[in-house]
Amino acid sequence: MNNGTFITFEGPDGAGKSTILSMVAAQFPNALVTREPGGIDIAEQIRQVILAKENIKMDPRTEALLYAAARRQHLVEKVKPALEAGQLVLCDRFVDSSLAYQGYARGLGLNEVFSINQFAIEQMMPDLTIYFDIEPEIGLMRINKNKGREVNRLDLENLSFHQKVREGYLLLLDRFPERIKRIDASKTMDEVFVEALKLVDRKVSEKKQR
Ligand code: TMP
Repeated sequence: MNNGTFITFEGPDGAGKSTILSMVAAQFPNALVTREPGGIDIAEQIRQVILAKENIKMDPRTEALLYAAARRQHLVEKVKPALEAGQLVLCDRFVDSSLAYQGYARGLGLNEVFSINQFAIEQMMPDLTIYFDIEPEIGLMRINKNKGREVNRLDLENLSFHQKVREGYLLLLDRFPERIKRIDASKTMDEVFVEALKLVDRKVSEKKQR
């Protein structure tokens, strides 16, 4: 039985979703806050392999499979038990990242990447996905300004890759309008935070009423 609420935060690199996630999480002290790829030891180890700058030889399907493997382990070890215990789970990235980055931007196909992910997640889709929408030019500028942030293998992709990531997300928004809600992440941080908090609050109370 799954009594909890599963909410994922998605968007291109530099959309500010991780910062907003920690601001929202501060309002829900009992929430489980986690991220992908990573969140638990095995998945953090897989993250190192996927994102290491020296792994330029990595095949796109290998990349997609590694994300799905990290996702599986994180889900069974951390997310599922929390949801079963009735907790709110706020997760930085989930299956939509694989669809936008590997399925669309890498060109593997949305349906193909969704099918390997179905094997990994067994129908455990989020109750709500907040998509932080940003023009890639602005997102990449924000990343370059943030000197403390790790620069990973995907950050090093060119602008047209990041444009495709955004196009991929916009397609997903079209395909799953009930689940995915868009926020314009070029607004001020306070505005984005207020909108994100409203969406989370609404979903949490909706689930409680069921
Ligand atoms: P992060 O910078 O948000 O921690 O994410 C790491 C990178 O991994 C980011 O560039 C997005 C990418 N990514 C994918 O390409 N596919 C996935 O399934 C996930 C979860 C992340």
